[in-house]
Amino acid sequence: SSPSLALVPEDASYEQVALAARDCRACGLYARATQTVFGEGAVPSPLMLVGEQPGDKEDLQGHPFVGPAGRILDEALERADIPREQVYVTNAVKHFKWEPRGKRRMHAKPNMAEVHACHGWLEAEIALVQPAVLVCLGATAAAAIFGSGYKLMENRGHVTTDSPWAQRVIATYHPSALLRMMPDEDAYTQAMAFLVSDLELAASFVS
Ligand code: URA
Repeated sequence: SSPSLALVPEDASYEQVALAARDCRACGLYARATQTVFGEGAVPSPLMLVGEQPGDKEDLQGHPFVGPAGRILDEALERADIPREQVYVTNAVKHFKWEPRGKRRMHAKPNMAEVHACHGWLEAEIALVQPAVLVCLGATAAAAIFGSGYKLMENRGHVTTDSPWAQRVIATYHPSALLRMMPDEDAYTQAMAFLVSDLELAASFVS
């Protein structure tokens, strides 16, 4: 099982679990990150969104999806008519992984060992949030939930009903992928439409 699972306090409240996560050293990423960025939102919630890892802004502010990717997510949620405060939003990995590029901290993709190390926190969040529908934003979240073989591009928007983690799981684009597409307006518009329709599909099962 995941190294972080041993750090999850037993029979604990959501707040106690979030507090315990602050001291996590289950992998090496804590050393270069400002702080643990735990998930937040409604607990319990029928709808839970899982991203990859906090970005630069999230690392500094201590909250998930508050930077540029968060603005894309907020727009998609608004278009899908899903109030953000009614969902629970978290990440597969809770520390920012980065590499220096000049004075900037460049996002570095977490590897499967880091995803695995962090999985105990995700499991604890799922147990407390008890979502009916889990939405994986991007390939890292999908790998955390389905395993590393999951093909996002082939399966996005597909509803999985035999996952141990929730009655229904849907994987869709990561908001950061949309950010990178922005220079190509058609690609961006198309991907945003997919993200919105996947979120609408997720919400359709809970309302
Ligand atoms: N990207 C993510 O996957 N999560 C965040 O919280 C921010 C950016």
